[in-house]
Amino acid sequence: MLFANPLVTQCRIFIVLVLCWRGAPSPALSAGCPERCVCDEQLVVQCSGQRLSTFPTNLPLATRQLIISNNNMDELPALQLNYLSDLVYLDCSSNSIREISESTFGNLRKLVYLDLSYNMFVKIEDQTFGPLASLVMLRLTDNPLLSEIHPSAFVENVALQVLDLSRNNLTMHNVTSLITLPALRSLGLSGNPWNCACEIEDLCLWMQKDTFRFQDEGQTVCEGPPDLRGLRLAELGLHLRTQCHPSLGHQDYLFFIAIGFVIFAAGTVLAWLTGVVMVLFERYVKRENGELDSEREEVKEEAGG
Ligand SMILES: *[C@@H]1O[C@H](CO)[C@@H](O)[C@H](O)[C@H]1NC(C)=O
Ligand SMILES: *[C@@H]1O[C@H](CO)[C@@H](O)[C@H](O)[C@H]1NC(C)=O
Repeated sequence: MLFANPLVTQCRIFIVLVLCWRGAPSPALSAGCPERCVCDEQLVVQCSGQRLSTFPTNLPLATRQLIISNNNMDELPALQLNYLSDLVYLDCSSNSIREISESTFGNLRKLVYLDLSYNMFVKIEDQTFGPLASLVMLRLTDNPLLSEIHPSAFVENVALQVLDLSRNNLTMHNVTSLITLPALRSLGLSGNPWNCACEIEDLCLWMQKDTFRFQDEGQTVCEGPPDLRGLRLAELGLHLRTQCHPSLGHQDYLFFIAIGFVIFAAGTVLAWLTGVVMVLFERYVKRENGELDSEREEVKEEAGG
């Protein structure tokens, strides 16, 4: 019998003692409400605008909505966040968060809504949102330092319907994997300093199609190069296509005609020169022969006379 084993019994008593003694030892065992937050019975935890500089501790494990917007947090701790496996709604907007990675959201498989707007992200890595299999809406706007989002960052978010990347510092983004997202129906890209070069040709061509909704399409414009500045991406698809996959233009034909003419002229001149040289050579040979002949005749005459 298990209970008959004195060692096991002692261990149990020890564990119970340790747990009671430490009060609220780990987030896994807490059921209260974090300081400066308001919790309700629908499992909504509201900590907005409380000047929190770190992620709240003591969150109820069954929290379904967590609002930590308008604080001074500079990181999202993966460990504490991933205890909240029932989380459906997470608003982290208006903080100073600089980094997120694949492990940040590793366990939030029920999360449907995520707001990361107004933060300090510089870069979004591959698969950052990979574990968020239920994510429907992602707001990632107004991050003035954000200039790079990995092309595969959203590739596994097959439930994603609304993605807002407005007002960041994006100059380009490879949309190959976005185009194939099955549920995506609205995309915000306005207010970024787009560099309208061949790298965003696919994006511009995509924006020309009416079947898809681009938010604030009129404000989705080029920052560079200077001759395209201010033009809407949606009207540049064909321009970029002709520029990036050049076929023969009439300048190319003029070039070929000029080259042809030069080769023809050079050939003619060369043939003429060859002719002249040959004629001169022939004349020279004839004259030499003539002189020899006359010399011989002179010799014969002398011998004969
Ligand atoms: C935006 O990105 C460019 C490089 O793409 C960089 O030179 C510039 O400093 C960035 N802007 C901000 C506000 O960080
Ligand atoms: C975009 O990414 C895909 C693969 O993810 C690649 O094949 C393609 O060449 C890229 N496009 C540009 C313009 O870099």
